[in-house]
Amino acid sequence: MTTQRTLSIIKPDATRRNLTGAINMKIEENGLRIIAQKRISLTQDQAGKFYDVHKERPFYGELVEFMTSGPVVVQVLEGDEAVAKYRDVMGNTNPANAEPGTIRAEYAENIGANSVHGSDSSENAEREIDFFFSEIELVG
Ligand code: RTP
Ligand code: MG
Repeated sequence: MTTQRTLSIIKPDATRRNLTGAINMKIEENGLRIIAQKRISLTQDQAGKFYDVHKERPFYGELVEFMTSGPVVVQVLEGDEAVAKYRDVMGNTNPANAEPGTIRAEYAENIGANSVHGSDSSENAEREIDFFFSEIELVG
């Protein structure tokens, strides 16, 4: 068993529709533990830095715009193989291709407003957790 941590973000389309609890239930039902959580409004600068890896992608501007359009809930999830596990729980980036029962299949509006973010590797998880949380905020 490999216990890992991953960064989750409940995105503005989901906070707007009051889906924080419903998404947290999916997370917990799937054996992941929410060990840190806060609701914040990202500035353009913060969203731009967080998604720096996508700077050259055509949807970068739209993505930064969307992520600053309302509050987000940033979370640290812990569990066995948490990075890959949460990617499974989220489902495909495009909700049209997401497996039934996944967060995106049930709640995402479209490929951009797709309700949740999850780190895509353990290296990125560490970097993304550091971006939002200090060590004393992580209570396993
Ligand atoms: P995330 O990083 O949010 O967990 O999503 P992901 O790995 O499934 O997808 P990624 O390729 O990393 O894209 C990051 C986010 O950018 C938006 N996006 N829009 N309009 C488009 O074609 C498009 N493609 C991606 C989505 O919000 C996606 O989650
Ligand atoms: Mg990604």
